[in-house]
Amino acid sequence: MGQPTPARSDDWWRSAVIYQVYVRSFADGDGDGTGDLAGVRARLPYLAELGVDALWFNPWYLSPMKDGGYDVADYRSIDPAFGTLAEAEKLIAEARELGIRTIVDIVPNHVSDQHPWFRAALAGGPERDLFHFRPGRGEHGELPPNDWRSEFGGPAWTRLPASPDPVQDGPSRSADTGGDWYLHLFAPEQPDLNWAHPAVRQEHEDILRFWFERGVAGVRIDSAALLVKDPRLPDFTEGRDPHPYVDRDELHDIYRSWRAIADEYGAVFVGEVWLPDTERFARYLRPDELHTAFNFSFMACPWDAARLRASIDETLAEHAPVGAPATWVLCNHDVTRTVTRYGRADTGFDFATKAFGTPTDLALGTRRARAAALLSLALPGAVYLYQGEELGLPEVEVERELIQDPMHARSGGVDPGRDGCRVPLPWAADAPYAGFGSRRTPWLPQPDGWADHAVDRQLDDPGSMLSLYRRAIRLRPAFGDGPLTWLPAPDGVLHFARAGGARCLVNLSDTPAALPDPAGILLASGPLDPDGRLPQDTAVWLRA
Ligand code: GLC
Repeated sequence: MGQPTPARSDDWWRSAVIYQVYVRSFADGDGDGTGDLAGVRARLPYLAELGVDALWFNPWYLSPMKDGGYDVADYRSIDPAFGTLAEAEKLIAEARELGIRTIVDIVPNHVSDQHPWFRAALAGGPERDLFHFRPGRGEHGELPPNDWRSEFGGPAWTRLPASPDPVQDGPSRSADTGGDWYLHLFAPEQPDLNWAHPAVRQEHEDILRFWFERGVAGVRIDSAALLVKDPRLPDFTEGRDPHPYVDRDELHDIYRSWRAIADEYGAVFVGEVWLPDTERFARYLRPDELHTAFNFSFMACPWDAARLRASIDETLAEHAPVGAPATWVLCNHDVTRTVTRYGRADTGFDFATKAFGTPTDLALGTRRARAAALLSLALPGAVYLYQGEELGLPEVEVERELIQDPMHARSGGVDPGRDGCRVPLPWAADAPYAGFGSRRTPWLPQPDGWADHAVDRQLDDPGSMLSLYRRAIRLRPAFGDGPLTWLPAPDGVLHFARAGGARCLVNLSDTPAALPDPAGILLASGPLDPDGRLPQDTAVWLRA
């Protein structure tokens, strides 16, 4: 095979390394304890040095922050805690000058209960039709209209008081006498929009244009498979087909019209599509729909050679017929951090099994996460990297009283929620708050030892996670753009080549593996054993 060919610039997304910025926790430019756009702008050189192609920003819009910004009150302004629209425009332009594109996060399934539409709806305006309001069941309407559950626990319906005074009070959470109910698949502060209404479609198409006009190169679509509901809002029955609100066929028409808009701007989509059915998943990636979607089955896959290989093969097989590139994800702002997950007895991910006090071997988890980094960066497609993953940050067990994630409270305090992967980043070991900000305690406290992971420490350490990621991202083009070929390997060892010629070996067995070409090592996730063999939980890249 010849030299790897550089991807066409309009195809950047097919093999990009995309870094996820959870703004609130990335870097605090004004020192008030909350990350902001000034902080991101100051750290753009760091991101350029890391070598990433694009930044995906979690929602940065005006929001009461009842769900970390996924409760949007105005899609066209930046939350004042983060900065201003003018600053966002500067950030997009400055990043682009460094060769880094921007992806914003659009949340079409729901809005904040403080969004003008919902406030007008509560005041009795025609905006009611933009949401799902229904009378309750039972003699006095005291029972929710159907049995749907919120993704965060509890019923997916909240009842309004009989005579709402919405502008003053907002919706009542507890009224047992009262008016209609409204649907929220997430928190009560996130009412679901009615996607059967043309104004909802129109508004989102305008929002897409608004951000594309500002130079945004892509959009992440939040909860992309949940927007459309069966208009009858029937009870949920296990196994009902089609599901009353997951993966409805009507969604594809919405995404086709979005695609036409993105094409005008040369912009791309990545969908948050959690679907176990690979054929249904791939439908979202047809050539006139979304460009990419997150690969959650790989993300949730346990640290096991056969299962990882099966996940890779299934991923590639499901994407091939629609011509879409795969994505490779190890963690994000919703799930347990990689080094922690791989250091536990259960190395897969499942929301249902999250618990306080799970025993964790971080040294083991870190060794595996290093190997997993080389594995995912060698695979064909785009790679998502969640801020702090490049620092090997562990999941933090945040004290119960300090947890802000609604998942925790709505689970009755059983689920630790998602704040443990959202702790503000450590930048400088000897600075206040590990260099995250200066004056005020970060919005989530950093635990003891956090400074040991600081960027400045890792930069000076060739054995650090940061040094590994920087080298891997730089060397990744050696794999080229072509497909993957599995090569012979002992049980428990993954071994493949890419058309660019480079090979990747990952040893998940408990026996050291002989290397086919010990002289050809491009990069290793850890030291080889004294005989030059590849130890357990270690990966290497070999040159062509
Ligand atoms: C997505 C987001 C998550 C958010 C939810 C509701 O799953 O990733 O953080 O809570 O949607 O918007």
